[in-house]
Amino acid sequence: MGVSVQGLEIGALLRSSETQKEVAEALSGAGAKVRAVLGNLSGNEIRILLARAPSMALIDIDMADPQELAALETLITSDGTLPPIIVTAAHPTLDGMRRLMRLGIMDVVPQPVSAHELLQAVQGAITSANLRTGSSHGLTGRVISFLKSSGGVGTTSLIVQGALGLAAERPKSPASICLLDLDLQFGSVALHLDLPQKCSLLDLAPSHEQLEGNMLRDALAHHPAGLDVLAAPPEIHPLEGIDPEIATRLIATARREYATIFIDLPITWSAWSRAVLAASDAMMLVMHPTVPAIRHARRQIETLLDEHLDGVPFQTTLNCVRKSLFGQGISLRDAERALGRKIDHVIPLDEAVATATNVGQPLAAVSGGRGTGKTITKTIKSILQAAETAVPASIRRN
Ligand SMILES: Nc1ncnc2c1ncn2[C@@H]1O[C@H](COP(=O)(O)OP(=O)(O)OP(=O)(O)O)[C@@H](O)[C@H]1O
Ligand SMILES: [Mg+2]
Repeated sequence: MGVSVQGLEIGALLRSSETQKEVAEALSGAGAKVRAVLGNLSGNEIRILLARAPSMALIDIDMADPQELAALETLITSDGTLPPIIVTAAHPTLDGMRRLMRLGIMDVVPQPVSAHELLQAVQGAITSANLRTGSSHGLTGRVISFLKSSGGVGTTSLIVQGALGLAAERPKSPASICLLDLDLQFGSVALHLDLPQKCSLLDLAPSHEQLEGNMLRDALAHHPAGLDVLAAPPEIHPLEGIDPEIATRLIATARREYATIFIDLPITWSAWSRAVLAASDAMMLVMHPTVPAIRHARRQIETLLDEHLDGVPFQTTLNCVRKSLFGQGISLRDAERALGRKIDHVIPLDEAVATATNVGQPLAAVSGGRGTGKTITKTIKSILQAAETAVPASIRRN
């Protein structure tokens, strides 16, 4: 019996779906958590994969291509925070292997990948790098990104109330939950929580190269319920100016520092918001039970598919549903049909939500708000569970 790989998070950049299948079977069977992305070192995928801060990386290299080896060399020499790396290659060459070993690569596994060989390589790397496995290894914060069908559907309310509900069940200090308001132009997380707009992504951007976990924690506003908040900037800034790398680095740092990270995204798509979604462990799409909102939600789903984000676990929430089953809205079945997918959560229209926001309190503390508060907390726990198990639910099911 070798070292346990149970719970080890492995990020894999692979060139073919056959290798992806072999790797998933070998490692998931042994209890590791594998996130496999198709691509090669010339694309953006490696950055997205590493933004998730895996405990180990498996990279598929074409050893016959000197540019690939050079790209790997650049990656390793330019980033001192990389996890241990194992390489897999369809045609390993002796010369290539020597170069990889000089770069500190832990092992090379030939393709087709044998479960036994891969497992041995991973176990060897765990021992050499002295990694801890099992539930105790760190860097495992879960990132949940929230999207909206259209403006004003209650996304921020869901994030804030869900986070407050979750925080009520956790020790308050140091906070284990962090809210990143990346709805840079119209974000209102800090307002919902009655917090100062102490620091935003734009303030962090210049110092980002060296942003340590404790610096991030110090920079955020602290809510006494046990939430740390990165507010949206007070002024309106153009969205295109944000470098995707700044956003993914922020996420990687937050992941090292907090157990749960909720991200409020703008409605508009950009290169950086795509990078944020790709680096997330799960996505939640919020909509209203109206024909226009469902249409827009469907377009969001289509964009997620076009952007190849169907590997990220995904759920949907229908918010502001009238108790008398959509008096003037549409039925759940019609909504699901129009969406082309199941609706995972339904939250009632409840005045207590607006009251709770106005007074900056959890729903449980507002008269008549307990029931909706519980529904929202349950919704949040469900998406966290999806992030935890990391099983990519199909975005479109029907
Ligand atoms: N379940 C609900 N019942 C009643 N009112 C709600 C509910 N959810 C949200 N609201 C209200 O809807 C309004 C919009 O909510 P919120 O700001 O959370 O939406 P949003 O999707 O984040 O909007 P924006 O596009 O501005 O970011 C707020 O006044 C809020 O109090
Ligand atoms: Mg909002």
